[in-house]
Amino acid sequence: MSATNHKFELAARPVGLPKPSDWSFKEEPVREPGEGELAVRILYISLDPAMRGWMNDRRSYIPPVQIGEVMRALALGRVVSSRNPKFAAGDHVYGPLGVQEYAVTNGRALVKVDAAAAPLPLYLSALGMPGLTAYFGLLDIGRPQPGETVVISGAAGAVGAVAGQIARIKGCRVVGIAGGPQKCTYLRELGFDAAIDYKSENVYRAMLQHSPKGVDVFFDNVGGDQLEAALSILARNGRIIICGAISQYNATMPMKGPSNYLSLLVNHGTMTGFVVGDYVQRWGEALPELAGWIRDGRLKSREHIVEGIENFPAALLMLFSGENHGKLILRVAEP
Ligand SMILES: NC(=O)c1ccc[n+]([C@@H]2O[C@H](COP(=O)([O-])OP(=O)(O)OC[C@H]3O[C@@H](n4cnc5c(N)ncnc54)[C@H](OP(=O)(O)O)[C@@H]3O)[C@@H](O)[C@H]2O)c1
Repeated sequence: MSATNHKFELAARPVGLPKPSDWSFKEEPVREPGEGELAVRILYISLDPAMRGWMNDRRSYIPPVQIGEVMRALALGRVVSSRNPKFAAGDHVYGPLGVQEYAVTNGRALVKVDAAAAPLPLYLSALGMPGLTAYFGLLDIGRPQPGETVVISGAAGAVGAVAGQIARIKGCRVVGIAGGPQKCTYLRELGFDAAIDYKSENVYRAMLQHSPKGVDVFFDNVGGDQLEAALSILARNGRIIICGAISQYNATMPMKGPSNYLSLLVNHGTMTGFVVGDYVQRWGEALPELAGWIRDGRLKSREHIVEGIENFPAALLMLFSGENHGKLILRVAEP
């Protein structure tokens, strides 16, 4: 194979927000796949807040990316040559292919996707990891009941927007928290009953106003003050879903936890964390349902696509400044 790969390796462990010198951009020839391997031309790379955590040398649900290793990322690509009987040239595949243009892999972590059934970026969005995160986090842990109030932080993002729409489908009253008037307008367009702009409103007071009987389910993507506010007005038997805490990912000081956790005791509440990978055996039950809701127009997905692998370092930062409007994806080749 005469192709050339470009890739981003982790060069240093970031302190605070990742900076350009934390990466090294490398060029290399693409090697021929060996027996049992396949070569994939990567088309779309998923940019996820979790990538920031994978850069830390800290115990987590997955080992950290090592210095000098290709940055870990979920991606979608097309098989260009295969010596693995499970894959053929032309197949579209999704999995942890990394921030690069080509990957040569044994294929064990890859799944095939049907390019004819849905636009490819959807497999990184509502029909991929973020959609599954919203589905299992909300339904398995949150167990929302019709008429209950569900509050979602990071609501205009990839996970939050899907979680909010599923809560609406389940007959709940849904309040979303997002940064800025444009994102709040988007939430109302998606059918959220109310939207709170945390950049211009007092989140606690606004949450109280929109959840007069208390918060039955809080789907938390942000942590920090927003989690503290939700705990303060938790309803009896309220459930808090710890999906993420993006407000803390670049903290240079120790992470600040909620000081009012005894609200769980008073209200007979629960606060439960989860990782979407724990549900991998059950993805098959969620995907047809998500696809059905998309088909019948009840679930909308929005992708924010940035062009060019060279823009990876700057694009990743958009997740932390809130510049992404929808699931952030890097397109590195024409599909
Ligand atoms: N548990 C799991 O298995 C799992 C799986 C996937 C994702 N997650 C978590 O889910 C969360 C959302 O991920 P996503 O992929 O859907 O990202 P996203 O919401 O599409 O993008 C990140 C958004 O976070 C908001 N944000 C950034 N910094 C913030 C801050 N300091 N305070 C408040 N909001 C801030 C920004 O929106 P605004 O403009 O509204 O501020 C930004 O657009 C993350 O915490 C992620 O780690 C967890």
